[in-house]
This record gives sequence, C-alpha cells and structure tokens, in this order.
Amino acid sequence: MAGPMKSQKPGAKPKNLVKTFSRILGYIAENKPLLIVVILGITISAGAQVAGTSMLKRVIDQYLEPMLKSYSSELMAGFLKTILLMAGIYLLGALSSYMYSRLMLMISTKSLYRIRTDLFRKMESLPIKYFDTHTHGELMSRYTNDTDAIREMLSNSVANVISSAITVTGVFTMMVIYSWQLTIVVICMLFISLNAIKFIGGRSSRYFMKQQQNIGKVNGYIEEMMEGQKVVKVFCHEEVAKDEFNQLNEALCEASTNANTYANVLMPIMGNLSHIQYAVTAIVGSILTINGILTLGTVISFLQFTRNFTQPITQISQQFNAVLTALAGAERIFELIDENPEEDHGYVTLVNAKENSDGSLTEVEDRTGIWAWKHPHKDGTTTYTRVRGAVEFDDVVFGYEDNKTILRNISLYAKPGQKIAFVGSTGAGKTTITNLINRFYDVPDGRIRYDGININKIKKPDLRRSMAMVLQDTHLFTGTIMDNIRYGKMDATEEEVLAAAKLANADSFIKHLPKGYETQITGDGANLSQGQRQLLAIARAAVADPPVLILDEATSSIDTRTEALIEKGMDSLMQGRTVFVIAHRLSTVRNSNAIMVLENGEIIERGDHNELIAQKGKYYQLYTGMFELS
Ligand SMILES: Nc1ncnc2c1ncn2[C@@H]1O[C@H](COP(=O)(O)OP(=O)(O)OP(=O)(O)O)[C@@H](O)[C@H]1O
Ligand SMILES: [Mg+2]
Repeated sequence: MAGPMKSQKPGAKPKNLVKTFSRILGYIAENKPLLIVVILGITISAGAQVAGTSMLKRVIDQYLEPMLKSYSSELMAGFLKTILLMAGIYLLGALSSYMYSRLMLMISTKSLYRIRTDLFRKMESLPIKYFDTHTHGELMSRYTNDTDAIREMLSNSVANVISSAITVTGVFTMMVIYSWQLTIVVICMLFISLNAIKFIGGRSSRYFMKQQQNIGKVNGYIEEMMEGQKVVKVFCHEEVAKDEFNQLNEALCEASTNANTYANVLMPIMGNLSHIQYAVTAIVGSILTINGILTLGTVISFLQFTRNFTQPITQISQQFNAVLTALAGAERIFELIDENPEEDHGYVTLVNAKENSDGSLTEVEDRTGIWAWKHPHKDGTTTYTRVRGAVEFDDVVFGYEDNKTILRNISLYAKPGQKIAFVGSTGAGKTTITNLINRFYDVPDGRIRYDGININKIKKPDLRRSMAMVLQDTHLFTGTIMDNIRYGKMDATEEEVLAAAKLANADSFIKHLPKGYETQITGDGANLSQGQRQLLAIARAAVADPPVLILDEATSSIDTRTEALIEKGMDSLMQGRTVFVIAHRLSTVRNSNAIMVLENGEIIERGDHNELIAQKGKYYQLYTGMFELS
C-alpha cells in the first residue's frame, strides 16, 4: 500500500488515507510479540522465495548446462542435491506463510475488538447534542460495515503488504546483483505501472469514501423506517418510503460502481503491463546472452525475479478495493473516536457521610443514607455540605443552537422538600429547564446552583446520581421488569425494588403478568402499554431514592385514578425531597408549593395554586379551560 499511497500528491484526500492507515497500524502494533513473530514469518517466507529463485542460476549454470554438454554422475548428484535443497527452502517458506496468516487473523480480531471498544467508549462519553444531530443507523453502520471493511483488510491485505515490501526489497537487491542492465528495463516498466496506479487510485479513493457514507445513509433510513413502521402504515406511506429508499439505494449503487470501476480496471492493466515487461526483459536478456554479457542461468533466474518483483505489486492492486473500502471505513470510525467527549470540569463529588455529634459531616465508605458534597478548595481545605436538594436558577438564558434563544431570564428557587411545578403550552421550554438541571446541556456561566454550589463545579456523574429523572419519553431496556426497575440503583435489593414498584403503583399490574417481575421486556417495552411503561419509569426513579426528583410528564398516559394513587404514594416519597413536576393535567400540580407558568421560554406567572387562580392570568385560563373541557 505504501507505494501507491506515497505517490499521491500531498494535501489531497489520500494524504488522509496514509494517516488513517498508520492509525490502523497503531492498533495492530499493540500486539507486539505476535506482530514480531508475524514479521519474522513473513521475512522467512519472502526470503525463501528469493533464495529459491536465486538457486535457479546455480542449477542451470553449474549443473544443467555442463550436463547437457557431457553427462557425469557427480554433476547429477549435485544437481539432485541442489534441487532437494530448493524444495526444502520452498517448503519452509510455505510453512511460515501458513503460520503467519493464522497469527495475522488473531491480530486482526484483537485489533477489531479494541477498535469497537474505543468506538463504544467514545459513544458513551458523547454529549446528548451529538445524538441530536446524527441518525442512529448512521452511527450503527460504523460498528457494522466500517469495522467489517477493516477486518477484511487486516486479515488479508496487511500481511500481503508487509510481505510484498520485503519481497520487493530482496528481489530488487538480487536483480541488481545479477544484471544492472535488465534492472533498468524493469524499473522503466515499473515507473509506467506506478503511474497507472496513481492515476486510478486518485480517482477512486473519494468514491470509496462516498460508498461508505452512502451505506451509512441507507442504514439510517432502514432503521428509521423500522422504528416508525406504525406511522408509515397509518399514513399509508409504504410507497413513498420505497421511493425514498430507492433513491438512497441508487446513490449507494452509483458510488459503489464508480469506486469499483476504477479499481477493477487496475487489475487487468497491471496484469498486461507485467506480461509486456516480461517479454521486453526476455528479449533484452536474450540479446545480452547472445553477446556473451550474461549467462543463460542469470537470464532465466532474472526473469523469475521479475515475476516475483511485479507479483506483489499486482497483488496489492488486486486488493485495492478492499484496502480503499477499509480506509474509508476507518476514516469514519476515527472521525467518531476523535469527537470531543462531553466536557466535565467538575471537581465537587458526591460522597456518603455520617453526622458527628457537633453536626459536622465526615466522609465514610458505606451507604449511610446521608449524602454530602465534597468540595475541595484552592487553599487545600475540603468542606462537606449535606445534600439537601436546593436548586436555584439565576437569570438563566439558554438556546440549543447559538442563534436561537429558547429560555429567557429564568430565575427560580426551590427549597429542599418543595414541590415545584412547571406548566405551560407545548414548546414553552419546560423539558429544556430540566435538561439544564442535570446538565444534558450546559449553561455557559454558572447561573444554576445546587445546594449553593455552581452546578458546573459538580462532576456530572455525581450530579446526575443525586437526582432521579423520569423522562418525557420512557425508555426500557431488554431484560426483565426487575432489571429495568433496578436500573435506578444497581445494588437495590429485591425488597427495595418491590417497595419502589408499590410506591409507583406498578406492583398491581406487574403481579398480573404471567411471569411477574421476571417478565422479559422486548423492543423498548413494546409488550407493555404506554401507561405501564410510565409506571415502570416512575418505579425506577423511586428506587434510586435521590434528594431531587424530576418528573417530566410522568403521568401523562396514566388514568386519573391510578395517578391519584401514585400521587399518594409519591407524597411519602417526596418527603424531604425537592421535586420538579411537569404536567399538562393541572390537577396533578395543584398541591405544589410553587407553580411556574412558562410561555415562550419565560416565566410569566408564579405562585401557588390559589394565588395564581386569584391573579386570573394564564394559569387561571388554563385551569378553568380544563374544567370547561371536561
Ligand atoms: N434537542 C433540541 N435541539 C434544538 N431545539 C430543541 C431541542 N429540544 C427542544 N428544542 C426546542 O426548544 C423549545 C422548547 O422545547 P421543550 O422540549 O423544552 O418544550 P416543552 O415545554 O417541554 O414542551 P412539551 O410540553 O411539548 O413537552 C421548542 O421550541 C423546541 O423546538
Ligand atoms: Mg417537554
């Protein structure tokens, strides 16, 4: 690969390919001991080829030619001995080539394991924003097609490239030793071949990139259509979906054709060029022999050498497609690996604590039920503040995109143990506020404080551990119901899970399932009703038992009677906890300490239920409107 890639103009796309290739080599190089054995194996097998061929000269010049003139049994014995030796050398070469290809397979699976691990690690560290802007199928395709392409290359091409490099060097040395005149002929022909590779390679590499991109798009579309299958059917969009898919599929087909046409013509061109080269070398060699400059053995050996010399180059060109596909795939993989992870400059951590007799806190290992913020200061001291769940917004301004403000001048203060409700029309910014509290998105300057600490100073995992959230769209994982509730607190006992389920009023429906808590959940909870899924999500938050609880439309799909029951259960759970509730059903928020009415990202009214009703503003309209409707 080094040959054709190096011959590219610097600054063009293929310069990236060289970088990408050396990055893949970096992964391979992690298995150093194995790699050393492989390189040794390759050297032996390449060396055997060179040695075997160079013995041809001896066989012809020392034994065959003299024997043709006058036969003698010593010559015959020498001849047989040399032939046997040659056979032995070739056998050794074959054995080591078998061995190194097996080892190379091991190295490639290990490298891919590492690449996939790196990919997944990075994916788990990416900010929510990344997933807002990339389709799932397109991300998925990096794990499937792109890694597959790399595997293809590693298990076949890499060993070939190394072997070719060694063979070419060895053979070239022998060629110069045997005849510099014929070497010049070969070099001239090689120059033409390299130019052909350069011309074709430059053209096709960008199509290979396009091909991998289009595979990603096709996968993204398939995934989206699978997830949205019901909507597709409801609106009879099957035909439209087919058309759209066809367009993407055609684009993929075109890119593949373009990529492969160039690469496919390379092989026959290289093949023909090598035949021509062979013929030219043979003619020049014959002339030199007739004039007595070279021996017959030298020319025959040399011709064999030219075969060994062009073969690796032809071989690389045969794997051109595979290599370019792999490099294009690798480029996409590394692009994801190089994404900036979610930033976290937090240094305040959440620790278990016990209270001393004087009221101060001491950090302990075990779970005590008392949590504290461990706050190291610049002067070397560390303070512990009890986690209470006081949340304060101070004139927060925020937008998902730079040029579009969603929240304006949001100021609020939630005392520990208070229930704060957000109401307001769709798109007003309710979910956005909760996204900021647990730092799915960051507010540039520290204007949100949690127990008096600027939340940008708190380590994200610790911040998130201190609050449970029931998201607006519930997500369940493959596993049992028990596993799914336990997701809120991985070390929860069975009793704790049951208690949480009872609290969330999920217990009664779970008990009626044939397998109860051991019921398997499939496909994001497709075998449960929407309301049941929400009950599980509430139970999951309840089991985490955190000081702050955020419920985003948590009861929107639950009937009013069950909701009332949950609320009763929650009231005990909410004791001593700060709770943020978002609800469209205003009966849910009536008993809140404070209700914030949001409109276009601004708090337009605030107060408790009675105050807001008395104000006769937006809340009053919403509330009385609700009654008119029912
Ligand atoms: N990930 C995002 N990227 C860009 N804009 C977003 C994103 N999420 C929400 N928005 C925009 O922010 C605004 C507020 O959205 P938000 O989800 O906070 O509304 P909401 O009050 O929770 O509405 P609902 O009652 O429908 O849940 C909307 O105009 C929406 O278009
Ligand atoms: Mg919302």
